[in-house]
Amino acid sequence: MKKKIKVMTVFGTRPEAIKMAPVVLELEKYPDLITPIVTVTAQHRDMLDQVLHLFKIKPDYDLNIMAQGQTLFDITTKAMNGLDKVLAKEKPDIVLVHGDTTTTFAGALASYYHETAVGHVEAGLRTFNKYSPFPEEMNRKLTGAIADLHFAPTETASNNLKSEGINPVKIFVTGNTVIDALHKTVNSDFKFDSEKLENIDYKNKRIILVTTHRRENLGEPMRHVYKALKDIIEEFSDVEIVFPVHKNPKVREVVNEELGGIETVHLIDPLDYEPFANLMHRAYLVLTDSGGIQEEAPSLGKPVLVLRDTTERPEAVQAGTVKLIGTERERVYEETKYLLTDHEEYQRMANTCNPYGDGKAAERIVKAILYHYGLSEEKPDSFVVGE
Ligand code: UD1
Ligand code: UDP
Repeated sequence: MKKKIKVMTVFGTRPEAIKMAPVVLELEKYPDLITPIVTVTAQHRDMLDQVLHLFKIKPDYDLNIMAQGQTLFDITTKAMNGLDKVLAKEKPDIVLVHGDTTTTFAGALASYYHETAVGHVEAGLRTFNKYSPFPEEMNRKLTGAIADLHFAPTETASNNLKSEGINPVKIFVTGNTVIDALHKTVNSDFKFDSEKLENIDYKNKRIILVTTHRRENLGEPMRHVYKALKDIIEEFSDVEIVFPVHKNPKVREVVNEELGGIETVHLIDPLDYEPFANLMHRAYLVLTDSGGIQEEAPSLGKPVLVLRDTTERPEAVQAGTVKLIGTERERVYEETKYLLTDHEEYQRMANTCNPYGDGKAAERIVKAILYHYGLSEEKPDSFVVGE
């Protein structure tokens, strides 16, 4: 009989949970071959818990490390110490980490110290600038250096890994699991629980959906963005802004100072994933510094203006649905105004495109693990755009 393997997923923030949920659910489909264990660091607390609830995931271990105003040192040391104990007890065959957060890197490093194999989901994304995004670019590079299996979402990401000398046999091009999650979540009949969101006049108003949270944008860069949004809202009477504000107090303070008390700017708490994805579906335009939203919006046909100077996700920029505009006030104002006034440009950017996945990424990842451990002879196919 073939030996059953123990696969531990480790994640801690909202986007990791959204993108790991399809993998956790897929691992559960093979009870004869896989013992799945879920460990959350809870680097995020409420923003993580809503995702666990939506996908009905009950963690086996919860390190509960979040503290208000936590530093990178706090997150790294608390996650490492907590993971040390869980790894010593469970001795998994492989640990799966996702993306580029501090939980990701701590998960990879702790596994390495235990001489445990690591699988990196969403591997190979690069801006080639170690301070942008900070600290994510370094987190994913260091995780890539440790990982034994690399699940690259796209061909571009796979090529980045190959050029760093990673053995191509260890790289699987899977698509991004965020598209799997999105497929399970967006629904044209969706109704918001929130009266505020349900009562917005989506037919006659153009909704700009905004999110900001990147560490390198905290403070003045974010303030410039909010001032530009204020200029826009004063000029366009048919535009309303919906802004689910990240829980980070450093974000909340500046948002409230610049955009608080304006009737057509709806500052709300972070939304649960289901209402958020469905709100994106109804929005006219998205302004964000998020990574995940850059992947989701193109598959919903929504133009995205990215409030950053670099991106590790060049595919949708090349396809023309995403534009990098930085955080400078005049530029943010001009680019937003352009999309609100030039119908042709808007239509050109609003084309639906799916460079990031086809909804089968989690299936490919789990097949690749089974194949790697000799539990299946079937090697997964690669994700190819447009197939
Ligand atoms: C983290 C990740 C970032 C990822 C982002 C997704 C790192 C260093 N950063 O950034 O890569 O893009 O998550 O959102 O790993 N807070 C709460 N409740 C929550 C979550 C956060 O109150 O549920 C507040 C806390 O005060 C916390 C602060 O937000 O100290 C910042 O959280 P942190 O995880 O340090 O950084 P993020 O900016 O969320
Ligand atoms: N998201 C959410 N509620 C919100 C804002 C975002 O559920 O109020 C989702 C979004 O759909 C995407 C993910 O959170 O899947 C992105 O997370 P975030 O922007 O915090 O992190 P990043 O992707 O930049 O790491």
